Amino acid sequence: MNDAATPALKAAAWTGVGVSRAHESAALHVLGQATYTDDIAEVQGTLHAALGLSSKAHANITAIDLDAVRASAGVVAVLTVADIPGTNDCGPIVHDDPILADGLVMYVGQPIFIVVADTHDHARRAARLAKVTYEELPAILTPQAARAAQSYVLPPMRLARGDYQAAFEKAPRSVKGELYVGGQEQFYLEGQISYAIPKEDKGMLVLCSTQHPSEMQHVVAHALGLHSHHIVVECRRMGGGFGGKESQSALWAAASAIAASRLKRPVKLRADRDDDMLVTGKRHCFHYEYEVGYDDDGRILAARVDMVTRAGYSADLSGPVATRAVCHFDNTYYLSDVDIRAACGKTNTQSNTAFRGFGGPQGAIAIEYVIDEIARALGRDALDIRRLNFYGRDERNVTPYGQVVVDNVIHALSAELEESSEYRARRAAIAAFNAASPVLKKGLALTPVKFGIAFNVTHLNQAGALVHVYVDGSIIVNHGGTEMGQGINTKVMQVVAHELGVDIANVRATATDTSKVSNTSATAASTGADLNGKAAQDAARQIRERLAGYAVKLYGGEEGEVVFAGDTVFVNGHEVAFPVLVQKAYLARVQLWSDGFYATPGLHWDPKTMNGRPFSYYAYGAAVAEVVVDTLTGEWKLLRADALYDSGKSLNPAIDIGQVEGAFIQGMGWLTTEELWWNPAGKLMTHAPSTYKIPGVSDCPQDFRVRLFDNRNVEDSIHRSKAVGEPPLLLPFSVFFAIRDAISSVGGHKVQPPLNAPATSEEILKSISAVEAALKAA
Ligand code: MTE
Ligand code: HPA
Ligand code: MOS
Repeated sequence: MNDAATPALKAAAWTGVGVSRAHESAALHVLGQATYTDDIAEVQGTLHAALGLSSKAHANITAIDLDAVRASAGVVAVLTVADIPGTNDCGPIVHDDPILADGLVMYVGQPIFIVVADTHDHARRAARLAKVTYEELPAILTPQAARAAQSYVLPPMRLARGDYQAAFEKAPRSVKGELYVGGQEQFYLEGQISYAIPKEDKGMLVLCSTQHPSEMQHVVAHALGLHSHHIVVECRRMGGGFGGKESQSALWAAASAIAASRLKRPVKLRADRDDDMLVTGKRHCFHYEYEVGYDDDGRILAARVDMVTRAGYSADLSGPVATRAVCHFDNTYYLSDVDIRAACGKTNTQSNTAFRGFGGPQGAIAIEYVIDEIARALGRDALDIRRLNFYGRDERNVTPYGQVVVDNVIHALSAELEESSEYRARRAAIAAFNAASPVLKKGLALTPVKFGIAFNVTHLNQAGALVHVYVDGSIIVNHGGTEMGQGINTKVMQVVAHELGVDIANVRATATDTSKVSNTSATAASTGADLNGKAAQDAARQIRERLAGYAVKLYGGEEGEVVFAGDTVFVNGHEVAFPVLVQKAYLARVQLWSDGFYATPGLHWDPKTMNGRPFSYYAYGAAVAEVVVDTLTGEWKLLRADALYDSGKSLNPAIDIGQVEGAFIQGMGWLTTEELWWNPAGKLMTHAPSTYKIPGVSDCPQDFRVRLFDNRNVEDSIHRSKAVGEPPLLLPFSVFFAIRDAISSVGGHKVQPPLNAPATSEEILKSISAVEAALKAA
């Protein structure tokens, strides 16, 4: 900044937002000093719990013998469903989710009892000693089997527009097929944990790793037969949530609180990785049957898809997940005549739940698969077919569910990426490489993303915050959002710092706490910073206005002309240090704290017709991936990835780039190496990192170019930024389709390679064999 600039000019150039700032806990993270729930100093008398799990997928319990559990070293108590003082339910929407099995088990891993002991190790050892007698019942394990049995957790849903059948019959060309896309374990580094501490007069403090403290409060209150005001839930941070702690922290919160209330002692329940994976739900796998009509240019004229998911034994969040899948089948494409169906198959498996993208990735990947097939059938580059079908600017811009796409930037964004990634030149280079390379085959793909931002349940789009300015000028912000590593606190602190014109070092964010901001929504749907940032801005603004009014009283001038910037208040030619004005205001009895609230405007949704405006705006992105596949072993490597993401006017570019990188690699894991496998008896056998492969650092591309697209939200979002948490998870579709492209080269791009996700090496080899067999048959 020019030193000669006037104070007013300096002030005008000052900003707290739109600048890269380190994560507020970055130093604590790397020093090992960030306190996660298990690091909180334990209260004297703390006991440790473990869960006793079902070993059958579907069975009546005819007898339980817990004598050996009770007799085991260190055991203090063993609790069953009969020990729950209130309601035996932790379901977030439908109340079909028992905390402890009540005579019937519905999946392998379902909790049957809680054992409480002096140490974590004693509790775990004891939990294995139960003798449970089962009378087995038939189990449904796959979504396809659920559909065949018409076994659903909710009535199937349908979104139709236009006349699919007529449009399909008129279409000169068509493609029809099936696809299966597997689920995904959240694999947060910090597992599920809850620590319940009894307080006076029925009170219960629950320290819980959760994305949804308010819901934990409600579930615990119901389980204990108490009111919400008896329960306080607190979460300073999670070591990752990824959706897995949106609803499914409830079991752990409830179980620890039931034990603590029963024993009148603090009880900690920490899942080890195997139990965590066996007990909790994951990303929904999807099976699709599709039929799409198109013209000779590749323009889609009619699209039908029938999706069925593995919801698991209970509804959990499967309804909103399936709804989001339905509302993302269009992705970036205008589909005039559609018939989109989704059903949530009730299966004897873990109850699947939120995972980054929340059904959006599962909806969108199906249309991308179709477009890939259309391009191959026409012998065209898939990017050209994608572009031809993109939503228009002023026409062809209404989604199947009736929302008008007013902020479309996918044309400019994909063009910029096409150019910066040298897509066309690399396409030619890859063709030349493949022609000369019989075993190693390269593949390339550019895939686009459009992702709707808002909870698709309208009333959840609200948030609250509290801002306290202390007499020394330091500031605390507390809001309803939870920190899971995504940087929400950093962004909210920046917003508050910006509003009050102070350096971010003056602002501290404190633990999310249901006794501070009440009735909060989960930190989810990528809306955390959008909603809580606005609420904190509202709170900070009220304080600023009061301070400005007081400054004018002291120094004269116009209230509207008082500027807060650079730790200074500029008022009528005076420059007053922020803490000095605060001290004066305190002595004059000006209120120095405020609440703030925000509710996203303009949203509405009719679940019956599946029509409305479910989203506040859309975030866009695109990525190019280049892979090399060993066609003899099915091994592959991502050579280079270029991603361009639209985070509007980013609040914090460094954090947003980190989110894009993380989501890209996480999504790549989902589509390639992360395979969930249940044995025929319904036991999840991939319940530890030994058998479940998430990407490691060596799986990241050597050449990884992530950039933010220069944009500004057309909606009045917080400082015109856009959400970033989930949408980039769809960017590694490019990796999946690059692999498919490499396989396709084996058949000279004449055969459609059947490829399900995850594209494990085994799946890749199967696909190559299918291509080779089709070539032979032709
Ligand atoms: N980033 C980190 N580091 N850890 C997480 O658990 N969760 C993702 C995303 N990014 C997650 C993350 C999911 S599923 C969501 S919905 C958003 O963060 C939630 O945070 P936000 O709304 O504040 O972006
Ligand atoms: N995302 C995450 N959680 C949700 C949503 C959503 O869209 N809708 C309801 N709960
Ligand atoms: Mo994210 S799946 O909405 O927690």
